[in-house]
Amino acid sequence: MATVTLVGSFNVDHVWRCEQLPAAGATIAGRYDTGPGGKGFNQAVAAARAGAQVRFLCALGDDAGGALARGLAQAEGIDLRVQLGDEPTGTAGIYVDAMGRNSIVIGAGANGLLASEFIAVQGEAVQTAKVLLVQLESPAETVLASLKLARENGVLTVLNPAPANAHTYAELLDQADLLTPNETEFSALLARHVGERVEPDDVAALDGQRLHALCREVHPKGTVVITLGATGVFVSHADDQHRGDGKAFYRHPAESVTAVDTTGAGDAFNGALVASLAHAPQAAFAEHVRYANRYAALSTERAGAALAMPSQADVLARFGE
Ligand code: RIB
Ligand code: NA
Repeated sequence: MATVTLVGSFNVDHVWRCEQLPAAGATIAGRYDTGPGGKGFNQAVAAARAGAQVRFLCALGDDAGGALARGLAQAEGIDLRVQLGDEPTGTAGIYVDAMGRNSIVIGAGANGLLASEFIAVQGEAVQTAKVLLVQLESPAETVLASLKLARENGVLTVLNPAPANAHTYAELLDQADLLTPNETEFSALLARHVGERVEPDDVAALDGQRLHALCREVHPKGTVVITLGATGVFVSHADDQHRGDGKAFYRHPAESVTAVDTTGAGDAFNGALVASLAHAPQAAFAEHVRYANRYAALSTERAGAALAMPSQADVLARFGE
C-alpha cells in the first residue's frame, strides 16, 4: 500500500444540529452530538478508508480527547505520531442547520503547539511518504517545515489552505505542488496574495478562462483544485504540468447526493485525493479528481466528520468503477 503522511490537527467536535444557524444574541434549541474531528484527522481517516497506508503527525493533550484520538487511530490502522502538549486536546464547536450547512469555532489547544522540531524528529515519516498532505489548523512554521522536508525528498506536496482565515504566506504556497482551497479559501487567497476581490459565492460562476487565470496568479507553479460544493470542482494546472489530461483547466460536475451534513466534506475530498494520487501516481489527474469528488459527495450523506468517511467499498457500491 502506498504511504500518505499527514501533519495536522485533531479536535473533539461538539456538534449542535439546529433548524437555522444561531444569529448574534439568539438562543435556540438543537440536538447535541460529539465525535472526532479536526481537519488533519478527518483527512487522515478519509485517506485510510480510501485505501492508503497513513501516518498522522499531530499534537494531543494528556486527556480524554487525546485518548479518543489514539483509540480511533488504532482502529483505523493509522500510524499515529504524537507530540504530547501542555494544552488540552483541540476542540471545535459546530452548528449544523437543516440544509447541512455549518459554522465552526475552533479551540486550537494542543494543535497550536505542534512544533517544527517534532516534524524534524519524525522526519523519516515525511521523507519516505509518496504524498504529504497538510492544512492550516497547525502553526504556519510547522506546516512550512513539513512541506519543505517533503519537497527536498521528492515527496508530492498537497496544501489544503483551510481554514480561510488562517495565516498563509507566499512561501507556504510555493512549497505546494497542489493547492486545494474551497471557494471561501480561494477568495481569501485572492484577496491576500493577488489583491483581487471576488466574493466566495461568485467564484463558481466565474468564466473558466478567468478562473484559470486567477488560479495561475495565486499559485503560478502548481496545480489548483477548487472544491465548489454543490457546483463541483475546478482544476487549473500550470502550463507545463497537465498531468496527462491535455487540458490546462476544466470543471468536474458534482455528484447528486442528499447532503445531511457537509462538515468534513472538504476533508473527505483531500484525503481521498491523496490516497488516489499515492496509489496510482501515473493515472490522469482527472481520474483522481473524479474519485475524490465521489468520495466527498458520499461523506455528506452521513452526519459527523471523521466517522462519516466512506470506505472504498461504499464508493464502489454507490458509483461503480
Ligand atoms: O473540516 C471540518 C473540521 O473543521 C471539523 O471536524 C472541526 O474539528 C474543524 O477542524
Ligand atoms: Na458528513
